Amino acid sequence: MNRSFLFVPADDEHKLQKAGEAGADALILDLEDSVVAAARTVARDLARAYIAGKKNVWVRINPIDSEDAAKDLDAVMASAPAGIILPKPRSADDACALAAMLDKLETRHGIPAGQTRILPLCTERPQALFALDGYVGATARLAGLSWGAEDLSAAVGASRSRDDDGGWLPPYELARSLCLFAAAAAEVQAIDTVYTDFRDLEGVARYAANAARDGFAGMLAIHPAQVKIINDAFVPDAEVIERARRIIALFEESPGAGTLGMDGEMIDRPHLAQARRIVDLANDLQATQEKG
Ligand code: COA
Ligand code: MG
Repeated sequence: MNRSFLFVPADDEHKLQKAGEAGADALILDLEDSVVAAARTVARDLARAYIAGKKNVWVRINPIDSEDAAKDLDAVMASAPAGIILPKPRSADDACALAAMLDKLETRHGIPAGQTRILPLCTERPQALFALDGYVGATARLAGLSWGAEDLSAAVGASRSRDDDGGWLPPYELARSLCLFAAAAAEVQAIDTVYTDFRDLEGVARYAANAARDGFAGMLAIHPAQVKIINDAFVPDAEVIERARRIIALFEESPGAGTLGMDGEMIDRPHLAQARRIVDLANDLQATQEKG
């Protein structure tokens, strides 16, 4: 279960040392935008050393159509990261090309075939927005879809992507929604993007609550202070879980019914599907907590 993915610039030894204490469900060692080209070799070595023997550490490589991508993968795959964050894909074909590279590298390093997952940042290029249905059935490695506004706004020449209150301007709200629907269509998790104002903890709490409300399963983080806030936001409230259990029980009592009444409200099959998701999530969370 990945509610929070914390980005850590892979060339920053101090942040790498601190990253494990943040309580993130997953870490992303970044080899792309937060690392300058001159530091990339060092960052690759640090990433490889950090990942060895650790669970749920992901790597953001450089775009698959850059020369750096193969070098990034060659360096880190020796340590078997949990997965690869794929920036700026043009379409799902880029995720498939990455999957083919992983096939070879897993064989070379004795990693079980298919173990390394892929999480594309599926909206970073304008052309990618018109091909999001390509993720349906594209590769079994697909763990989810996430998105980003910064590269997209740079690509269209926008001067900003958020309004004065920190909310998305319409073009980026659209990209966010498309990521959510593409993930649902591909039957994988949608992971909301970063909240960059890392001193605004109320803002990130509000943002994460809205993400959970809208159906995102988790969110990207850039600062340790955001992690617990994000984790908490993606845990359904006790009343929500209780209500979901009652909906499931109600339909079990009346297997032939398409529509039922509960607490003066109409409940139908979509509510049942939603209730099952909530209860599955609650059970996953409990299992994770019991494991320690
Ligand atoms: N991972 C691990 N540790 C982090 C961290 C991160 N992402 N961000 C901050 N820290 C550490 C700092 O090193 C600092 O440690 P210290 O108290 O021992 O000195 C502590 O947490 C507090 O950090 P703070 O001083 O509040 O922030 P900062 O100015 O050091 O860093 C950023 C701010 C934005 C540069 C930093 O959070 C960062 O690098 N985030 C990730 C950026 C990234 O990867 N971007 C790519 C995806 S968009
Ligand atoms: Mg970027």
